[in-house]
This record gives sequence, structure tokens and C-alpha cells, in this order.
Amino acid sequence: MTRHSFQHDRVELSYYESGIGAPLILLHGFPLDHTMWRAQIEPLSKSFHVIAPDLRGFGKSSLAAGDAGRGVDMHQYAADVAAVLDDLGISEPAILCGFSMGGYVLWQFVKEFRGRVRAVALCDTKAAADSDEVRAARIIGAEEVLLSGVGPIADSLLPKLFAPATLADRPDVVAAVDSIIRRTAPKAIAAAGRGMARRHDARADLPAIQVPALVLVGTEDAISPPEEMRDIAAALPHAEFVEVPEAGHMSPIENPAIVSNALLRFATGLKDVPTR
Ligand code: MLT
Repeated sequence: MTRHSFQHDRVELSYYESGIGAPLILLHGFPLDHTMWRAQIEPLSKSFHVIAPDLRGFGKSSLAAGDAGRGVDMHQYAADVAAVLDDLGISEPAILCGFSMGGYVLWQFVKEFRGRVRAVALCDTKAAADSDEVRAARIIGAEEVLLSGVGPIADSLLPKLFAPATLADRPDVVAAVDSIIRRTAPKAIAAAGRGMARRHDARADLPAIQVPALVLVGTEDAISPPEEMRDIAAALPHAEFVEVPEAGHMSPIENPAIVSNALLRFATGLKDVPTR
């Protein structure tokens, strides 16, 4: 895996690439970074050119002055992903996979850069916008994280991210995610929280997404429940729906083999499909 970074629109964007083949982009969730895809990068990069960005503010990517107070919109993250493709000189349509907040970025990317998308994979995400209640909580959370640091958010978020059995029996898995969250910059969390609070409702866009789609969800995902993801799959014209057993929200980490295999099978099956 090779790390690259470049200056773009007031920040330094960092991304990792590995493998040769059709471009496949992995978009991480909140408040995480590209390392959440560690288990997927190696198997996928045997057949694909895997690109895993750190969204602005997260991992090794920086944030612009004022972003924590202003918020970063999904539009900005999507434009940054397009800039990563430009940095690599990739003009052919890419396969995009978005986990949770990465899925929100994916919806925006498809809206703005449809010609650059060959296929989409949605993992433990939502298409609906936030309710007023969630929106208000995000704004409070953004203010709190700047005052108190990441600790309280990590403590309250962590139990919601996993299947009960993962929480009870797999402390290593929980600790791995905990450490990603705790090293995330409070400003990135505030910026993304504000941006997510005002993201648009993507449900009306789904019927027009004509590319092949894979919808993946942990059977015990309490944040993006299977019923909600099944509705996303039903609204997408060419979607396959896969439930990931023994997993909650963090399915790529709780059951990495099933997620990697599903992505590999889906992406490999596209090889002879003409780009739409
Ligand atoms: C994520 O995992 O990215 C978050 O659950 C997204 C969110 O807060 O809506």
C-alpha cells in the first residue's frame, strides 16, 4: 500500500493505493479513517486498483481553517474524492464503496460526477437525511467535542457500533475501532457532524442511479438497520442485497471475510459489463 498526499482546495489530502486493475474507491465512515478498510484492501487489491482516501480532517488529511465551526458538506468530501482520482490521472469510471458517512459522500458523488461512476457498493449506510432530533444532537455534539475532546463521543458511540456478541466476546475488535476514533481530530468530528446534519435526503435520487449496486448490511446493525437498507436496495434499479451475519454497524471489521468476498464477487462480476 502506498500513501500519497497532495494539496487541494486549502487542505492536504492523503490517500492510499494498492493493486492494479479497475479503480475501486473505499470511503470510510465517521469518525474513522481509511484504516477501517484494512481487511478489505489486501484481498481486493489482488484484482483491483484500490484507493482508500482519508476524508478531509480525518486520518492524515488536513482541515481548512474555520471548517470545524462551519462544517464540511458532503459536496466538499465528494469534490475531494474526484480530486483524488484526478491526482492519480484516473478518468475511467470507478467502482465506489461507501460505508455509513462514506455512503453519504457516495450519494453526493453520484449526483455530481455520474460519469465517473461505474458501480456502487453501499455498506451500513442511510439514504434518508437526519431527523430534526438527530440534527440538533449533531450540533451539540460538534460543540462538545471541541470543548471536551474525543473521549465522551467515543464512549457513547462505541456500544452502538457493534453486534452484542462482538461487544461481549471480541474486545480486540472493539479496541481496534476505539483506537481509530480516539486518534481522530476533534475538529474533523465537529466539521463532519455539522456537514452530515445538513446533508440532503438522497432517497429521491435512488431510482435514477442506473449503475450496478451492491447493498451490504450487518444483520444486527442498530444504526443503519437491515430493513432500511433493504428499502435502499429496492429503490435502486440494479441492486443486490446482502446481509452480513455476526455483525452490527461495523460489518467490514466484524465480519471482514464476508464483506471482502461480497465486494470482490460484485466487482469481479462487473468486468465484462459495459460502462453505463
Ligand atoms: C458512520 O458510521 O459513519 C456514522 O454512523 C454516520 C452517522 O453518524 O450518520
